[in-house]
Amino acid sequence: MTIHLGHLIHITGAPDLRDAAQSLVDVADGALVIDDETGVIVYSGPRSGLADALSDGGALPDADAARGVTIDHGDAFLIPGFVDAHIHFPQTYSLDAYGGGQLLEWLNTCIFPAEARLADPEFARRIAREFTARRIAAGTTAAMVFGSAFPHAQDALFAETARVGLRLVSGRGIQTVGPDSAGPLITSEADAIALTTAEIDRWHAADTGDPATSLLHTAIVPRFTLSVTTETLRALGELYAEVSGRGVYVHTHLNENNRPGTGEIDTVKKLFEVDSYLDTYDGKFLPGSARGGESLLGRRTVLAHAVHCTEAELARMAQTGTSIAHCPTSQLFLGSGTMPWLSTIASGVTVAAGTDCGGGDEWLISRVLSDAFKVHISEPGDRGVSIHPAELLFTGTLAGARALDAEERFGNLDAGKEADFLVIEPERWPPLAAMLENGIRSDDPELARDQTLFALLMGLREPAIGEVYVRGRRVSAD
Ligand code: GUN
Ligand code: ZN
Repeated sequence: MTIHLGHLIHITGAPDLRDAAQSLVDVADGALVIDDETGVIVYSGPRSGLADALSDGGALPDADAARGVTIDHGDAFLIPGFVDAHIHFPQTYSLDAYGGGQLLEWLNTCIFPAEARLADPEFARRIAREFTARRIAAGTTAAMVFGSAFPHAQDALFAETARVGLRLVSGRGIQTVGPDSAGPLITSEADAIALTTAEIDRWHAADTGDPATSLLHTAIVPRFTLSVTTETLRALGELYAEVSGRGVYVHTHLNENNRPGTGEIDTVKKLFEVDSYLDTYDGKFLPGSARGGESLLGRRTVLAHAVHCTEAELARMAQTGTSIAHCPTSQLFLGSGTMPWLSTIASGVTVAAGTDCGGGDEWLISRVLSDAFKVHISEPGDRGVSIHPAELLFTGTLAGARALDAEERFGNLDAGKEADFLVIEPERWPPLAAMLENGIRSDDPELARDQTLFALLMGLREPAIGEVYVRGRRVSAD
């Protein structure tokens, strides 16, 4: 066993977002005990409870404890690893890419040409290493990763992720139509299915052979409706019906850009003649939203953005267990608007956080949570809301695990979970240390606790993340 001592903060249990504050655990003198063999947390709580748990008749066998190692992190915070529910691997070098305007122009001018560079296997290996190193630096222990079109680049991503020991869900980005700039990323209909099937067979649960214990999972990833045809959607629906029993995921974009006439949503509706954008992923992609194939929605489906959804679309997502990756940093950068927070949450859909790098220009999920706080307090009238710090933490951790349908494995620091956690050492980033030390705190202990959590999330930067653990094992890029 390994015992980590530090200041534990996490959202316990399996609450809804609105119960996150009641489920906030904050133990200044905390201890996490991890079974070295399984990487599972066997004790989580105050140090004072440790002696009891280790004593004769306690929950933890003495003999194991005697063989254990204790790591005292001092005043450092131990928080769950961040879950990034939407990030683009081939855009690692494309954060803050200028020259594009909004979504469709930016894709055409900046992104498709940048992604085409991964055709070079040496470049693909380099970008896979850089992407993985950025994830470790940002404490992103689990991620839904939008992949490259090129199988060798996906091989490099999975291999590097397996080497360092992070969690990964990813699939090659599927494009069967598009503008000239996307030419190198486009394949035939037959190749789109063959390459995706080959990736699933090669990488799904490749580390343990069992999706229930694996750190590596694959996804079916049509880029968005405008990059595929009705034929592709039909074939992908068929493929999903075949592989969903193996725990394969679906990942794509929904309702991101609503510029009238020429934006993404209007173009989807005009080209496909459907009633709603969501219908195209729900098997109803023929004119008039007539059924043309199997649905891609479900508990392992994560749709990025969902900024401009109708009530019916949200209701259908809730009904099918489909989740939203909320990416406010990217939405600011690309002028995509603001996902209405209260009504989206009220629909019952799980809302997790996504960086959407390179549409978003921050790797750190807490920076995305900071932007979420700012954009949602700025929503007009009574739609504006000051999101509770526990709800922010929930959105960046447990909600992400839920969106990945892996909540029983990680997302908080409860006993029984696989130990994915970060050691936050504020003195490594002096502005954070200074805020925590000198910021105003209420006399009300509960509010003071919330104020400290808020300062921690808003003031966190990569240098303060001292150590990153996945399943109890320290992760490093070396
Ligand atoms: N829609 C289709 N492709 C993309 C992409 O690469 N980034 C974002 N933000 N939206 C998309
Ligand atoms: Zn995206």
